[in-house]
Amino acid sequence: MLKNDLNDIGAESYEILKDLDSIPMHRGQLYETIVTTQGPVNTKNSAPMGVLCKNNSQIILYLNEGSHTSINILNNQYFIVNITQDPLLFAISTLKDMEDEYYEDYNGMPYLKNTDAFFIAHTEDIKKVVREDKFGTNIIHVTTARVDEIVRINKRAFPLNRGIYSVIETLIHFSRFDLADSETKDKYWNRIKELNRVAQKVGSKKDKEAMHFIIKTLKENFKDLE
Ligand SMILES: Cc1cc2nc3c(=O)[nH]c(=O)nc-3n(C[C@H](O)[C@H](O)[C@H](O)COP(=O)(O)O)c2cc1C
Repeated sequence: MLKNDLNDIGAESYEILKDLDSIPMHRGQLYETIVTTQGPVNTKNSAPMGVLCKNNSQIILYLNEGSHTSINILNNQYFIVNITQDPLLFAISTLKDMEDEYYEDYNGMPYLKNTDAFFIAHTEDIKKVVREDKFGTNIIHVTTARVDEIVRINKRAFPLNRGIYSVIETLIHFSRFDLADSETKDKYWNRIKELNRVAQKVGSKKDKEAMHFIIKTLKENFKDLE
């Protein structure tokens, strides 16, 4: 469906889509998005959040306990996922509270004015999980949600996935490896291992394959890498 109504959602034209595949978010991949929520007394909140695509109509969020996003989602049972590649929106939503002028209204729910697409998600299940990591003990709300309505404002909407950036960064280190002294090689190798961890965790099949290929080639050329 293609709509053309300036007053409707504040965008000149937009499409309502059904499947996550159409934005395109694919099963098993984790995307970096900005989640918008409604707070108490008409406040709105935005924060970058990873969204795992469970299937064509369900997603999973891993919410740190105590964040505004987590509290608002627990209260409202719905949230809005904004699909954008705008670095400033990511930076501003991380570093400060976004003023009202950053938001538009969609049937009483806030989304980001300059987003390329957004969707409404309603929570179906929230599991509280205690996780131990290098920062200590964390409580995470593993939140499964149903995707109800996908609104694409920009036909080129494309969700951020860190896999490709890991591959490109690794290739840059790879191409400088030959020239590096041993201390710099160590630095590059540690960085590549971290980038590989990210790609294996959130990347596509091709990202993972590319990383295996680069690392295999590096190890063949530089025997002491572990
Ligand atoms: C790219 C990116 C992805 C993030 N993903 C998550 C996430 O999946 N879960 C989470 O709880 N915090 C995540 N964060 C951290 C939150 O965005 C951050 O803690 C934020 O300050 C929470 O804001 P809030 O209190 O307004 O909700 C992420 C941050 C960035 C920059």
